[in-house]
Amino acid sequence: MAKHDLDPNYLDPNYEPVVNFSDNTPFHEILAARMQRRTVMKGSVGAALASIMGVGLAGCGSDSDSSDTTTGGNSGSTDLGFKAIPVSSENTVVVPEGYSSEVFLPWGTPITGSYPEYRADGTNTGADQEQQVGMHHDGLHFFPIDLKSGGNSSTEGLLVMNHEYINQGALHASGATYNDDGSRPADEVRKEIAAHGVSVVHIKQDSEGQWDVVFGSPYNRRITGGTPMDIRGPVRGYSKLVTPYSLSATETRGTLNNCAMGPTPWGTYLTAEENWHGYFKNSAEVRPREQVRHGVDGTSRYDWELADSGLDQYIRFDVTPQDGGSAETDYRNEANTYGYMVEIDPFSPESKPQKRTALGRFGHEGVIFAPTKEGEPVVCYSGDDSRFEYIYKFVSAQPYEAATANGSLLEEGTLYVARFNEDGTGDWLALSLDDAEFAAKVAAAEGTEVGRSGILFDGFENQADVLLNTRLAADIAGATPMDRPEWGAVDPNSGQVYFTLTNNSQRTEEQTNAANPIVENRTGHIIRWSESNGDQAATSFEWDIFVFGGEQGTETVVNDEVVVSLTDDNIFSSPDGLWFDYNGRLWIQTDNGYKKETFGNDMMLAANPETREIKRFFVGPQGCEVTGVVSTPDVKTMFVNIQHPAGNWPNPSEDRPRDATVIVTRDDGGIIGA
Ligand code: FEO
Ligand code: CA
Ligand code: CA
Repeated sequence: MAKHDLDPNYLDPNYEPVVNFSDNTPFHEILAARMQRRTVMKGSVGAALASIMGVGLAGCGSDSDSSDTTTGGNSGSTDLGFKAIPVSSENTVVVPEGYSSEVFLPWGTPITGSYPEYRADGTNTGADQEQQVGMHHDGLHFFPIDLKSGGNSSTEGLLVMNHEYINQGALHASGATYNDDGSRPADEVRKEIAAHGVSVVHIKQDSEGQWDVVFGSPYNRRITGGTPMDIRGPVRGYSKLVTPYSLSATETRGTLNNCAMGPTPWGTYLTAEENWHGYFKNSAEVRPREQVRHGVDGTSRYDWELADSGLDQYIRFDVTPQDGGSAETDYRNEANTYGYMVEIDPFSPESKPQKRTALGRFGHEGVIFAPTKEGEPVVCYSGDDSRFEYIYKFVSAQPYEAATANGSLLEEGTLYVARFNEDGTGDWLALSLDDAEFAAKVAAAEGTEVGRSGILFDGFENQADVLLNTRLAADIAGATPMDRPEWGAVDPNSGQVYFTLTNNSQRTEEQTNAANPIVENRTGHIIRWSESNGDQAATSFEWDIFVFGGEQGTETVVNDEVVVSLTDDNIFSSPDGLWFDYNGRLWIQTDNGYKKETFGNDMMLAANPETREIKRFFVGPQGCEVTGVVSTPDVKTMFVNIQHPAGNWPNPSEDRPRDATVIVTRDDGGIIGA
């Protein structure tokens, strides 16, 4: 039997489904606003230029009392001291003069159990893969090994990384196969599920400076698409999460499509569930809003539900209600247990991952925590990476106390969604039935079709229902539809929050707004804001655009002043990964499928947030995206992830590609980027 057709778009690294057709910004408001600013189009290809109003950006200043023990410290300049490298189309990693790179932890590296050796012919079993590093490396973080005792090691730590999705062709000896009856060999499915998830790897530098896996370390761990997890927060126990696996709606199995991440101020790791919808299949003609608003449809990406063992752990990916069945007997609710940020404690290898539902359910790209202040709420931000989706902020109900802080701070709080006003201000709109304004909007929306999504809104049962349907709640609140929010980062020096808006080729003239001003935005931009009065929990902010991606000559204009004009040294397209290092340099990674002849392979650039100087620092091999970056606290070892490389990178003697981490160091042992 022929394989179910994969959505061909999914093979495009830039593909994201469009499932939001809400039109939250009235057209007349956009027109009025646009007349107040200059918009310049330049070049035959319409290089993206836009001017925006000057916005007085008030940083929260140096009095911010950061207690984030995961950050190190090398205070000082954010100047970029290296020589920019040109674009590259070579099948190799390129770094600046005076720097070196080395491949580390490629897919299949054994890290636990019996340490099964990687087989280059694709014949490792599902059980092997459960003990090896997964595929399609994405977000990663380095936790110093002595973090819990207040230390800051830069020579030993736990490297924790996500594995977003898989390349079936490379994973198996002969790609994905199907039996004559249309089922799939169960061990292939087991291996595919095991190649997803998260790897925790205890790593250590030897006296020569060489990094290696600590063999036999109890910290080494694989978390996969099948690992048991708890549902936590307001959605825990809600009837719409009842499954035969958890009649009490308190547990589920697995985390999938883990893209970016976020280290918490208390030393744990949050992994993001991004395009989880594609793993489920619902053959019914009418699907619930919890699935429709995310794009669950009649096919699943990898057909796991067809595994020939018929085991419950595989058939759960078919979420079609069965005739005469119920939530207790079939997996109609399984997809409702996905779409969350999932907390993992890398220092407790036996701990069960926790799905933190208070942070909302959507296509989480990642999460970024603001610097903490003793006695004040914990604040974090998360983008929903799909065209026309939103940026969210969570503010904990309980205050942060460094001595006792833990994941319980994420149990309870307020989830907000961003509205970027035309005048450079913005508002955080509470998605809480306890908020009078939101409750009134919900009441007014009842019985109507919300936006243009076609979803006839029949109310929310309770706050758990609001969070389960976060996207719908944000439509109703009147959030600003963005050009695919990917990673966020908070400037440790100013407190300003930056987010990449990777691209949105489908934005029409009528759909532009001040924060997303480009029609058919193919090269993306980076937006940033400062919370009012330097209070990260504030409900208003002031924003501006840090830089527009594009070709040579693309200008970012503020108050009629050109603040960035891109050159050979820094043209880029489709910003995705974003990270402030411990000195305050901003690292920008790309996932670009546009004009490769101009932009070359995907890359990483460094930026000085003060001056907006930007220089290309790293170019990946062919076919890859460059995603995920972190360094040791001393910023002398940098880890950069290479996802879905093409051909046979990194080993020319093998015939399949391997996703891998790349270690970058400075030959003189100095601080990277300085
Ligand atoms: Fe998985 Fe939005 O990149
Ligand atoms: Ca991404
Ligand atoms: Ca991307």
